[in-house]
Amino acid sequence: MGAAPAQDSCVTCHSALDDAAKGPAALIKNDVHIAHGLSCADCHGGDRTSDDPEVSMSKAKGFKGKPARTDIPKFCASCHSNPDFMRKYAPQERVDQFELYQTSVHGKRLAGGDTAVATCIDCHSVHDIRSVKDTMSPVYPLRVPETCSRCHSDQQKMAPYKIPTNQFEQYKTSVHWAALTKRGDLSAPTCASCHGNHGAKPPQVGSVSDVCGTCHVLFDQLYQKSAHKAVFSGAGGGGGCMVCHSNHGIQNPSTKMLAGATSVCSGCHEQGTPQAKTAAQMASWIDGLDGALKQSETVLTSAEKYGMEVSEAQVRLIDGRENLVKAQLALHSMQPADMQKPIDLGMAIAKDTLQAGQDALHEKDIRRYGLAVSVILIAIAMFAVRTLIRRIENGKQAELPKTL
Ligand code: HEC
Ligand code: HEC
Ligand code: HEC
Ligand code: HEC
Ligand code: HEC
Ligand code: HEC
Ligand code: HEC
Ligand code: HEC
Ligand code: HEC
Repeated sequence: MGAAPAQDSCVTCHSALDDAAKGPAALIKNDVHIAHGLSCADCHGGDRTSDDPEVSMSKAKGFKGKPARTDIPKFCASCHSNPDFMRKYAPQERVDQFELYQTSVHGKRLAGGDTAVATCIDCHSVHDIRSVKDTMSPVYPLRVPETCSRCHSDQQKMAPYKIPTNQFEQYKTSVHWAALTKRGDLSAPTCASCHGNHGAKPPQVGSVSDVCGTCHVLFDQLYQKSAHKAVFSGAGGGGGCMVCHSNHGIQNPSTKMLAGATSVCSGCHEQGTPQAKTAAQMASWIDGLDGALKQSETVLTSAEKYGMEVSEAQVRLIDGRENLVKAQLALHSMQPADMQKPIDLGMAIAKDTLQAGQDALHEKDIRRYGLAVSVILIAIAMFAVRTLIRRIENGKQAELPKTL
């Protein structure tokens, strides 16, 4: 900690080098290591107190030079996997990055000599490594997809591995990307939330597809109870929620997933089978309740516009919506009976609130009718009074002397 020594020959000399060679010294000002009082020699070794390159960059002074690509993780780990050293700077910081990295596809391939995979500096950069909380960091949630896709969307680079290169393209169409970028919801997953920051999959879950359940806990609990659990978690990865929702391009769920020729169910359950009938039943329940709630909403909104008091019914309508969400959740056990209760409750609320709205509109009509009648009565009364006055006036005129 503390500031870097004022006399740092590495920085001084490298800052004076030509543009290309100056790179590290120019970049380093934003680096988190510099901010913690570390400098060139803490990573590269050497003697920063000597102006003589023969000395400062000598093996005798522990100079390591530029690490080979395959050595980079170990190079960074010399500090980051050393709990005693790291504790002095950041007591809460994890020291398992290297350990996890070695379990990842990236780490295993690098250990086998494949240098096309991501090492620490491909994700964190080098010489301008920033705190992971810094919005400019390449691993800041909003920037992660860009960082991964530098390789994973590069068809040429990924060709030898014969894996898809459309992850980012699909992810950009997903509910998660929308939540992250349109609503600023940082709890929505980026690439690294599902695959892990350092292990190619989150270490606490058996399969990468199980990761959905770490956030969508209730959905997972019901799914675990379902008949699908046993048949979807077959060999070959994937499986789980992915079978119905996909992984990268997750769309807003709708009953189109349940019913119709393009439903996800129809891929396995043919028309006419009991399961297909269940799917159709689920769709009609959801659409039915959704439609009923919308109808109530329309009527209540219109009553409100006419100034009628319908706030109580509008609050109940929120309960109705909650029951719809509960039914959409309950669906995941694939037991229609689980959906029945929220659907029935929701339908009852839809009915009551529709009635309340219709009553309010009816009341408005009565009031309008009443108003019309009184307007007419007033008009008649005014007419009568005017006629009366005229008559009196005429009478008075008749009484005046003709000589005038
Ligand atoms: C008097 C000038 C001077 C001093 C002092 C100096 N360097 Fe250098 N350093 C150079 C030059 C010149 C190069 C070669 C640049 C090139 O070829 O791109 C170089 C190269 C390097 C390289 C790249 C080596 C490689 O394997 O490619 C590293 C890393 C480096 N210096 C780090 C340091 C560190 C750390 C210190 C302080 C302990 C330091 N330098 C001190 C001038 C200096
Ligand atoms: C956090 C550790 C770290 C610090 C601090 C650091 N470097 Fe580096 N440096 C690296 C790594 C890792 C590489 C290898 C980059 C690569 O393979 O592309 C590297 C590469 C270099 C190279 C080779 C040319 C290049 O740009 O790749 C030079 C020169 C260099 N560093 C000089 C410096 C100087 C000068 C400083 C201080 C101003 C410094 N480094 C601070 C980790 C560090
Ligand atoms: C595939 C990309 C990737 C690679 C490779 C990678 N990291 Fe990370 N790293 C991340 C992401 C993403 C985060 C988390 C950012 C966040 O918390 O929002 C992170 C976080 C960190 C942190 C902050 C503490 C923590 O663990 O959350 C440190 C320190 C770190 N990485 C060091 C390393 C080191 C050292 C290596 C090499 C052994 C490495 N990283 C390799 C992506 C990567
Ligand atoms: C000389 C020891 C040392 C070396 C070598 C080193 N680091 Fe660090 N690093 C630190 C210290 C100390 C911190 C500041 C404390 C902290 O926030 O973790 C830090 C911070 C970081 C952070 C910010 C962590 C956060 O919580 O936001 C990242 C990312 C990081 N280092 C990555 C790397 C990478 C990548 C390498 C290899 C190129 C590397 N470090 C090499 C000591 C080192
Ligand atoms: C420097 C390029 C590079 C970067 C950056 C990179 N990767 Fe990779 N990644 C690769 C290569 C190459 C492979 C090996 C492909 C293989 O073996 O199928 C790989 C493999 C993977 C795999 C395993 C694929 C499989 O075969 O099942 C996952 C998952 C993965 N990367 C996720 C990520 C994530 C998430 C990020 C960003 C946080 C990221 N990668 C950043 C190059 C990169
Ligand atoms: C919501 C979780 C989630 C997010 C977000 C996510 N992935 Fe995945 N990813 C998965 C799952 C699940 C698999 C399938 C693994 C399997 O089949 O075992 C997968 C597979 C992969 C694979 C293997 C090749 C393939 O396409 O099947 C790569 C590479 C990959 N993802 C990279 C990325 C990148 C890059 C991003 C960000 C742009 C990303 N992932 C975002 C969950 C996610
Ligand atoms: C890191 C936490 C996290 C992970 C992991 C995650 N999600 Fe999400 N998911 C969210 C958040 C946050 C939202 C947006 C908030 C919302 O609309 O409920 C969301 C939204 C959704 C939605 C849309 C919900 C709606 O009401 O429109 C679906 C469907 C979904 N996720 C499925 C999945 C699947 C399938 C996986 C695994 C492949 C997964 N999620 C992994 C956090 C996560
Ligand atoms: C058998 C197919 C299937 C599986 C497996 C599945 N879902 Fe769903 N999921 C659906 C259908 C169908 C809907 C939407 C029904 C509707 O709203 O019309 C849905 C809706 C959702 C929603 C949005 C609910 C809402 O309020 O709109 C989320 C979130 C979700 N699923 C998450 C998950 C998660 C997490 C998993 C794994 C644990 C999972 N699903 C497994 C079929 C499935
Ligand atoms: C990948 C194939 C596949 C998909 C997609 C699929 N199922 Fe299934 N489903 C099965 C299998 C296999 C079984 C267990 C054997 C059976 O009952 O036919 C099953 C069982 C069921 C059952 C019986 C549950 C029980 O407890 O007896 C229902 C209901 C069901 N599925 C509904 C659906 C619905 C609704 C969808 C779409 C949202 C769907 N399935 C999507 C393969 C699938």
